[in-house]
Amino acid sequence: MTRTIKIFDTTLRDGEQCPGASLNPEEKLEIARQLAKLNVDVIEAGFAIASQGDFNAIKAIAQTVKGPQICSLARAKKEDIERAWEAVKYCERPRIHTFIATSPIHMEKKLRMTPEQVLKQAVEMVKYARSLCPDVEFSPEDAGRSDPEFLYKVVGAVIDAGAQTVNIPDTVGYTSPWEFGQLIENIIKNVPQIKKNSTVISVHVHNDLGLAVANSLAAIKAGADQIECTINGIGERAGNASLEEVVMNLKTRKDFFDCETRINTKEIYKTSRLVSNLTGMMVQPNKAVVGANAFAHEAGIHQHGVLRARETYEIMHPNDIGLTESKIVMGKHSGRHALQKKFKDMGYDLDKDALEKAYQRFLEVADKKKEVSERDLEIIVAEEVYVVPEEYCVEKIAIKSGTHDRPTAKVQLSHKGKKIKAVATGAGPVDAVYKAIAELTKVKASLVDYSIQAITGGTDALGEVTVRIKDKDKIYVGHGADTDILVASGKAYLAAINRLIYAGIERSRGTTARQ
Ligand code: KIV
Ligand code: ZN
Repeated sequence: MTRTIKIFDTTLRDGEQCPGASLNPEEKLEIARQLAKLNVDVIEAGFAIASQGDFNAIKAIAQTVKGPQICSLARAKKEDIERAWEAVKYCERPRIHTFIATSPIHMEKKLRMTPEQVLKQAVEMVKYARSLCPDVEFSPEDAGRSDPEFLYKVVGAVIDAGAQTVNIPDTVGYTSPWEFGQLIENIIKNVPQIKKNSTVISVHVHNDLGLAVANSLAAIKAGADQIECTINGIGERAGNASLEEVVMNLKTRKDFFDCETRINTKEIYKTSRLVSNLTGMMVQPNKAVVGANAFAHEAGIHQHGVLRARETYEIMHPNDIGLTESKIVMGKHSGRHALQKKFKDMGYDLDKDALEKAYQRFLEVADKKKEVSERDLEIIVAEEVYVVPEEYCVEKIAIKSGTHDRPTAKVQLSHKGKKIKAVATGAGPVDAVYKAIAELTKVKASLVDYSIQAITGGTDALGEVTVRIKDKDKIYVGHGADTDILVASGKAYLAAINRLIYAGIERSRGTTARQ
């Protein structure tokens, strides 16, 4: 019989733990809403005790996002579990995910506990979590390097203590698919409580050796019923198993896996873009399923085949992940109402203020471009709607540059109702713009990353710039889009600076301890 595999999304917890991918509470909420549209089974919304910001985001998600179960991570400690419960208790079906390490190296070096102490603490804390929350998941951290006999003991004991889901993590991405599949099979065989209590066996695999998706699929073959994964595979170090790859493997090779998920795959592309835009973690062009080249057929022989019959070289249809042809959709005579309808058709439900901002930006773009495509509209939404309050806004940027000129930028910003101006020179025009902005905002963060992408074809395309700046070990991301790439560069830099300033305000209010 076809099995339904649960998709447990940890983009907002493990995904957000990757360097530079920090999200503020509003952005987390936006992603959670999109994950609900994607129809994931569980959203791990954060690690409640890690920071006040994380706690607030989990609570807001639990209070407002309908559909998926909302979960918080908690170490196997009373104070963590209490904090997790305080954050998730507002939703219809809350879950607490508690964990403690079981590998010899983690127990000895990190926890400084004996296996007996770890077993006792795991059992006590699962019981405690169950006394608060009706649904509890337990993870023996670093299971991939744990002694299997000890693992069987721990898994059996936490099920007896009330855990309904037991997640087996390969925390450091060490195992190969053959070993990991065998481990899952052995756990199911050697722990009778799993069958007796219909316990859900879950897996959570990191991608250090590029095997996260392969190991997750091997685990499904061996009997796992839940996969923990993230959008675009973001996560600690080399990341986690990528949700879209796991899901599309199961869909495309249903003949082999005989499994399905509840995921609305048509929301995959949009979710991938949103996560990439908000975290600043770019998707590599050749990334499976959601990369820009995933459905591009350059070679003549491929194009010929695809034109005759798509299936010659295409095993998935772009429509399956919600990727439509980038249609020219609107021009400058399109009104607010038409734009609102178009956004609705594309799945964006904008409130009055957001629509007005998007409309004003659309008029600017339409004035320069004549024809505005769906991809352009996506950028407008990402740039204009999902932003933190703007301390500074770009008003004007003028550049003088060329083979014989020292690049010079004149920048005018608005700040608290006032116009402020600066002129700066630099090694190149972007450098000059950034120096002028730094002078005006008095923010001296270092630029760690700058990238530019053309959104649609043609020389009048919108250029999208993404920058990452660093201030005191914290990374802030900014995006900017414009037909003029120097203006886009200035907007991106200023957006990152606005986020840095906003994070400082949030911190002083005591709402964001971990960025
Ligand atoms: O990688 C890991 O082991 C984790 C656990 C907390 C599940 O993220
Ligand atoms: Zn992890």
